[in-house]
Amino acid sequence: MLNFTFHNSTRIHFGEGQIKSIAKEIPVTAKVLITYGGGSIKKNGVYDQVVDALKEHTFFEFSGIEPNPNYDTLIKALDLINEHNIDYLLAVGGGSVVDGTKFIAAAALYEGGDPWNIVAKQAKISKALPIGAVLTLPATGSETNTGAVVTRDGNKLPFGNPLVRPLFAVLDPAVTLSLSDRQISNGVVDAFVHTMEQYLTYSVDGKVQDRISEGLLLTLIEEGPKALSDESRNNLDVRANIMWSATLALNGLIGAGVPQDWATHMIGHELTGGYGIDHARTLSIVLPAVMKVCREAKREKLLQYAERVWGIQEGDEDQRIDNAIEKTEDFFRQMGVPVRLSDVDLGVSDIDSIITKLEEHGMVKLGENRDVTPDVSRSILNAAL
Ligand code: NZQ
Ligand code: ZN
Repeated sequence: MLNFTFHNSTRIHFGEGQIKSIAKEIPVTAKVLITYGGGSIKKNGVYDQVVDALKEHTFFEFSGIEPNPNYDTLIKALDLINEHNIDYLLAVGGGSVVDGTKFIAAAALYEGGDPWNIVAKQAKISKALPIGAVLTLPATGSETNTGAVVTRDGNKLPFGNPLVRPLFAVLDPAVTLSLSDRQISNGVVDAFVHTMEQYLTYSVDGKVQDRISEGLLLTLIEEGPKALSDESRNNLDVRANIMWSATLALNGLIGAGVPQDWATHMIGHELTGGYGIDHARTLSIVLPAVMKVCREAKREKLLQYAERVWGIQEGDEDQRIDNAIEKTEDFFRQMGVPVRLSDVDLGVSDIDSIITKLEEHGMVKLGENRDVTPDVSRSILNAAL
């Protein structure tokens, strides 16, 4: 196992009815800005629960944070923050709202000129407004982690800092019942691929990390399809298991002390930035291709994954790996997400511009071995045609 320092300070309130706990999390003297997206929280009762919990607080609202949050939208929140001396942000929504709020929190107190530097130049930040999160879509893990992804002019780029980790997060599985099939699928697949990015690398004998990861993968494989089925669509235990899996998949725990990949995500970001494809749907296209192209570097872990996650014991090594990749694709198809570029109407003629964007963004040494060069990314995209 590699050396590591693990610290996750976000206090989690998990379960039905927990939104009321924000009342005691946020100081009553705070001036709060509630940030949210396109309005789903007004239709499913989440907004009412939040407002009810904050009845003793002074709060303002900033809405309209879109999926794949955009710099031009987020920057508008700064006027409101300055005008009302806002000193606490409460993100209510999915990963985009939480990520966007992280950017707002850092930008509001940034003294280094253009706040886009925080993302584009990975400029150092020394302070950020405190953030709380009420999560409505289990997927990204953003509610307890330090990362965020922001888009400007088609450039979708990550940044991260412990200062923007939410102080608390409310995870109420009941609020996920209003999700569309598409968003349920996206969330399950995103959490699945987060786990794979930290699991499917090379072995450092991280037995605990491996077995927790395998537990998360098995849970998502078991519960994901149930959340789409007529019989268990409204089953709160199913939703709770998906929600907790998604948080644990990217709260730092399974990635501590083991190598991490993230090539699938970085290539996927270019598909979202360039073509507007949902985040998870880029991952379901790219991951199987990464498994194929990086097969030798990942051989030992692919075999472990085949056996422990899919129960594959028959055949020689290569057959078992092929079978595991097929099972992964079958699971994605079962969840209703694409597995090929052609499924989203992209083809060989799009590959050059995707590679150019990867180069522009400095994504030229990806993967756990830093050997996924633009040429290897090209092979991955070709394998995904
Ligand atoms: O905007 P509203 O009206 O709220 O609707 C949203 C949005 O249209 C809707 N939604 C959310 N909760 C709902 C709901 N609809 C009904 N009922 C509910 N309970 O779902 C749509 C998608 O929301 P979004 O927040 O975009 O989805 P997700 O949580 O998948 O977040 C995706 C973003 O997170 C980034 C992605 O790149 C993408 O920008 N990621 C962030 C990461 C991180 N911070 O660690 C890691 C991830 O790999 C990922 O990159
Ligand atoms: Zn993701």
